[in-house]
Amino acid sequence: MPNVAVIGAQWGDEGKGKVVDWLASRAEIVVRFQGGHNAGHTLVVGNETYKLSLLPSGVVRGKLGVIGNGVVLDPQALLAEIARVTAQGLSVGPDNLRIAENVPLILPLHPALDRAREAARGERKIGTTGRGIGPAYEDKVARRAIRLCDLAEPETLSAKLDELLLHHNTLLQGLGAETFTKDALLAELLDLAPRLLPFAEPVWERLDIARASGARILFEGAQAVMLDVDHGTYPFVTSSNTVAATAASGAGIGPSAIGTVLGIAKAYTTRVGSGPFPTELDDATGQLLGDRGREFGTVTGRRRRCGWFDAVMVRQAVKVGGIEGLALTKLDVLDGLPELKVCVGYRLGERTVKHLPAAAGAQAAVTPVYETMEGWSGSTRGARSWAELPAQAIKYVRRIEELVEAPVVLLSTSPERDDTILMKDPFAG
Ligand code: GDP
Ligand code: IMO
Ligand code: MG
Repeated sequence: MPNVAVIGAQWGDEGKGKVVDWLASRAEIVVRFQGGHNAGHTLVVGNETYKLSLLPSGVVRGKLGVIGNGVVLDPQALLAEIARVTAQGLSVGPDNLRIAENVPLILPLHPALDRAREAARGERKIGTTGRGIGPAYEDKVARRAIRLCDLAEPETLSAKLDELLLHHNTLLQGLGAETFTKDALLAELLDLAPRLLPFAEPVWERLDIARASGARILFEGAQAVMLDVDHGTYPFVTSSNTVAATAASGAGIGPSAIGTVLGIAKAYTTRVGSGPFPTELDDATGQLLGDRGREFGTVTGRRRRCGWFDAVMVRQAVKVGGIEGLALTKLDVLDGLPELKVCVGYRLGERTVKHLPAAAGAQAAVTPVYETMEGWSGSTRGARSWAELPAQAIKYVRRIEELVEAPVVLLSTSPERDDTILMKDPFAG
């Protein structure tokens, strides 16, 4: 039995949390491998709604959760999230959550810098979640990050804070923001240490043993391919690689252990932050999709921008993300629309192109070429079998498969865990 990696195929919020929760019943371990608490994954189970940002979505099913080294971890956010889900009746502790000892930490100076820079960008802001994700990844690559294991070595920590503060206070001062003092940060980290260190371990070793014993591992992506720092709509992206290949480096396993790659896409398109969005609808249909789909950011609360399904973009995500099968979500949101449009190419000046160009100017300039399809009058909401779907809804799904060059292996028809249709089990390879 292979493992499975789940990644977003658009600009995030495709329903990864719901799909990972659903698939987690078939896995023993669920691993987060990139991103941080910029992610917001919503799971609806009966009357309970769980909003997870850092915790792997498998915790709701009582599965072992692993936070890999590819994540950037805000300790305060983690403890607050554990307290929140504990109040909802879940149990999360070192027995069912393991965190890579080499994971880089997000400190209070990271969100401060994130926000100060966004404010300085003014109109050209990226629309980040303001949670310090970008600055924390910068520090990791610049080799000055504080990592979880450093909390066990107060002297190392103290010396590393000197270097970190020299860099950050200079920047913060230049941006007119408040600076930080070493004593306060050191005291905060040493206070957190006994609460965090029990979770720390070389998770690569645990994953290696799990693999050898045949245990099934589910890798849970955050964000999505079009927010990938290399392959997305740069610079309007997040600061990590979101493609499936990252599951290997972000967890400490080899690429052959990733298994089947499942891409999640909505039956239309949404985006939270700034940046190009060729199929965006500024009209009543866009409004309708947003209202019906309850398109409000889980993390930011901001209204998500909405538009038609962009098959050019998802096809590109399929190719660069290594997606072998697609889970299509929120089909129910399209119920009753008389007509649906799907983007099948872009106009760029006189040319028609079949991919999203890399240059920011060209990305902003492309306009969609649409194919129009008839909608369906029946309901797909809550459908749990292919037979319950209106014929025209099936046609829409089939057309998407053709255009994006990947089979739809799973359909989601409501936020509820069990309103899901499985065509092919991704764990079956
Ligand atoms: P994620 O970041 O990819 O995990 O997605 P989010 O949880 O941020 O956003 C997806 C939203 O859509 C959540 O509110 C889900 O409860 C909801 N959702 C997921 N699948 C479906 C579906 O098939 N139909 C509808 N109507 N809502 C869904
Ligand atoms: P999930 O996992 C949607 C967007 C932000 C912004 C850009 C950079 O729930 O799909 P960052 O704070 O990461 O530096 O912001 O990325 N963004 C997301 N959009 N879903 C997410 O996560 C996102 N995480 C980041 O809105 O445009
Ligand atoms: Mg989300």
